[in-house]
Amino acid sequence: MKIALVGAGLAGKQHIHTILNNKKCKLDLIIDPSQEAYELSKKLNTQYFSNIEKALEKCRPDGVIIATPNSVHKKNAELFIKKKIPILIEKPLSSDVKSALDIVIYARKQNTPVLTGHHRRHNKIIQKAKSKIQSGDLGKIIACHATCWLFKPNNYFNSWRKSLGGGPLLINLVHDIDLMRYLIGEIDSVQSFESNLVRGGNTEDTAVALLKFQNGSLGTLSVSDTIISPWSWELTSKENPIYPYNKQTCYWIGGTHASLELPQSKIWKSVDKRSWWEPITQSNYKIGEYKNYPLAQQLNNFLAVIEKKEEPICSGMDGLNTLAVIEAIKLAAKTKTAVKPETLLK
Ligand SMILES: NC(=O)c1ccc[n+]([C@@H]2O[C@H](COP(=O)([O-])OP(=O)(O)OC[C@H]3O[C@@H](n4cnc5c(N)ncnc54)[C@H](O)[C@@H]3O)[C@@H](O)[C@H]2O)c1
Repeated sequence: MKIALVGAGLAGKQHIHTILNNKKCKLDLIIDPSQEAYELSKKLNTQYFSNIEKALEKCRPDGVIIATPNSVHKKNAELFIKKKIPILIEKPLSSDVKSALDIVIYARKQNTPVLTGHHRRHNKIIQKAKSKIQSGDLGKIIACHATCWLFKPNNYFNSWRKSLGGGPLLINLVHDIDLMRYLIGEIDSVQSFESNLVRGGNTEDTAVALLKFQNGSLGTLSVSDTIISPWSWELTSKENPIYPYNKQTCYWIGGTHASLELPQSKIWKSVDKRSWWEPITQSNYKIGEYKNYPLAQQLNNFLAVIEKKEEPICSGMDGLNTLAVIEAIKLAAKTKTAVKPETLLK
């Protein structure tokens, strides 16, 4: 299958690597106005276009991965949906719920698959955790907590990352929220606070949120890109070699019969009777002997969707619902009230 890549920046280069290492597809073309992308296309001996319109005059890829700044996801996505070409759009689906909703509605009208690049869903650790939760091993899920504390240096904040949408809610916490929805269920309402004590300006550098799930579970989340710490999925999951690995935990999921620590895949349960006076033990379960490379697993799902052999593990609708929770968190911080994400989809 011929795959096109739009936006050969930080994320796009990882997709290129993944495409080049997949036997079922080839990198058909790169679309990106930058000189760096042009030079990369020469190095990789692949077709190059500076914009999508020019590319679509000459080429018809079987699928497209869009890894451009969030604010242009909608415009770029619509050009491919118009031609009924399946797309995988990097997370977040768009920079706001309204434009993300436009993408989903247009794709449905055109009967064209849209996937959202919440690649963590494809991680074997998460797949196994989901099956543990669904099997009932943890009992009823009562609460969960996610920490995402990172420190991003000044040179990370290029022009688009300094503007609205470049803060850790849309860049980082959107992944954690998506996983909580995937593992625990839909979110009924949120409350939150945010701050920007370090960078100032319009964009948050820190936020905390409370989640109430539709099934009654409760969740707490804390995110910051100005804290030095090892407690984030990025620094604990070994998912991406650009981050140093720390054998620490960033998600805690608590049930009536056991609790789960991720990504360490540790289960804590009572030795005998369930009581705070009784000893509890910890065991690790194995995720299997297979290789765990979520971007490759995500690409395989995308290829299978193009071939109509599988459903998306993370659809455009999933990306939209996750984005609605992020927008609800921002609105809750602004209005100091609880906000229901589903009201933002109307
Ligand atoms: N899944 C993940 O873990 C992950 C990680 C990083 C970034 N992302 C997402 O990937 C997307 C890109 O982020 P990034 O960090 O790679 O940004 P980046 O700034 O490093 O790269 C963006 C690239 O898009 C190009 N571009 C800009 N406008 C374009 C257009 N209209 N058409 C074609 N190309 C265009 C730029 O020249 C640049 O090369 C964002 O949506 C971001 O949230 C996801």
